[in-house]
Amino acid sequence: MKAALIGLGRMGLRHLDNLLALKLDVVGVCDPFEQSRVAAKEKASLSDDRLFADAAEMVAKSKPELLIIATTAPVHAELTILAAQSGVKAILCEKPMATSLAAARQMIDACAKTGTKLAINHQMRFMDQYTIPKAMLDSEQFGGVTSIHVSAGNFGLAMNGSHYFEMFRYIAGAAPVEAQGWFSAETVPNPRGPQFEDRAGCVRLVAANGVRFTMDCSSDQGHGCRVCYTARNGQIFVDELGGRMDWTVRQKEHLSMPTTRYGMPWEDGARKIEPADALVPSLRVTEALLAGENYTTGADGLLAIRALVAAHVSDEQGHRVVRLDEALPEERVFPWA
Ligand SMILES: NC(=O)c1ccc[n+]([C@@H]2O[C@H](COP(=O)([O-])OP(=O)(O)OC[C@H]3O[C@@H](n4cnc5c(N)ncnc54)[C@H](O)[C@@H]3O)[C@@H](O)[C@H]2O)c1
Repeated sequence: MKAALIGLGRMGLRHLDNLLALKLDVVGVCDPFEQSRVAAKEKASLSDDRLFADAAEMVAKSKPELLIIATTAPVHAELTILAAQSGVKAILCEKPMATSLAAARQMIDACAKTGTKLAINHQMRFMDQYTIPKAMLDSEQFGGVTSIHVSAGNFGLAMNGSHYFEMFRYIAGAAPVEAQGWFSAETVPNPRGPQFEDRAGCVRLVAANGVRFTMDCSSDQGHGCRVCYTARNGQIFVDELGGRMDWTVRQKEHLSMPTTRYGMPWEDGARKIEPADALVPSLRVTEALLAGENYTTGADGLLAIRALVAAHVSDEQGHRVVRLDEALPEERVFPWA
């Protein structure tokens, strides 16, 4: 299968590793920076006619069947639409999906019109740190997830927060329907360039089935990422950077006791999990896209940024509860990377 890649920065080179691991024919790679093209050429032993500075030229000349878009966010939409209209049948686009709700919707519409499969690279459903807690929370003993609390360093509401909104949707098993935001006043320089800005702060979401989510990644927090999952009968703590999790859960004979009896005799346990890393889970998303099932869709990617836009609106309007189905600023462009 013919595959191509646009954007040869840190994440793009990881996708290139994955294309090579999948033994796909890399017919084109594209980045305006020569240094980045040379890095890709050396990694994949590519001939010069497979290196491009211009994405439109690459898509037209190399005619890929699979295209990975690993540029920063402002051009995700125009490149996705260009590729769909040029006949590319499968596109994996990096997150955040787009820098406006309107642009994300245009991506979905363009792909629907041409029958192109569009995946967004939120890899949560392929990461042990989420799949293992989800299976436990869904068990009869834990009794189903009720709330998720993320306590983290200043990892950016768009850069990483968008991943956590998709994680919430995945683990809750229902879409978020309302959001509130309390953003940090301070903004910090963005590692991907001065044109980008990502906010820090707290976000609260509620899913359609009543499951709650809170996340604090405020600008005065500079270390770590832990998640506490609470279910009716138990709790799971995950140290995502350390690759560890532990839990306590009511003994089975006490499951029917009311929730007010929160200290009933319990079982506990701990285990190691794979520490957070983007490489292998991105490979799994690519494989799922190629198989045509169980990948994070454009609709999932749009939902993640809709939650983020709603949190922005909430923060700007006195932290009010903002419904995700109310009129949000569709055309507003955010400086996300
Ligand atoms: N899914 C994940 O886990 C994950 C992890 C890291 C980054 N990302 C996402 O991947 C994207 C890239 O991140 P990065 O860390 O590689 O950034 P980066 O700045 O290192 O690389 C981006 C590259 O895209 C290139 N580019 C920009 N516009 C282009 C265009 N029109 N045509 C061709 N190339 C273009 C730039 O020259 C640069 O080399 C971001 O959107 C980021 O949010 C996702």
